[in-house]
Amino acid sequence: MRHPLRDYPQISIKPESLDGPIDFAALFSRDAAVHIEVGSGRGAFLLSEAINYPQINFLGIEWRRGFYRYSVDRMGRWNITNVKVIRTEAAWLIEKHIGEKKR
Ligand SMILES: C[S@@+](CC[C@H](N)C(=O)[O-])C[C@H]1O[C@@H](n2cnc3c(N)ncnc32)[C@H](O)[C@@H]1O
Repeated sequence: MRHPLRDYPQISIKPESLDGPIDFAALFSRDAAVHIEVGSGRGAFLLSEAINYPQINFLGIEWRRGFYRYSVDRMGRWNITNVKVIRTEAAWLIEKHIGEKKR
């Protein structure tokens, strides 16, 4: 039987908690490049990238509740610290909360 899926608040981002452009350095408590996966599914690719590239911060965006919950649980069980996952529609998130980087 599949184990119950847990939420890991250090990994899951709630869309309703967002206010303006996401401050990724604050979110990850470090300033590093951020790679975004649009439609991160169950998080298999995200997990492998996070392990292989620990110097990079990753954001997974997934709108399907079951996949989102599965990926959060997966990152949590692996003690991954360079991944956040949010359940929302990717185009909306990018337009509203991920602005162009100011140079
Ligand atoms: C092929 S799966 C990705 C699999 C993932 N790379 C993995 O390793 O598990 C594509 C995912 O994109 C999600 N998706 C598609 N359009 C989306 C959108 N506009 N916003 C958020 N998620 C989306 C789907 O729900 C689906 O889970």
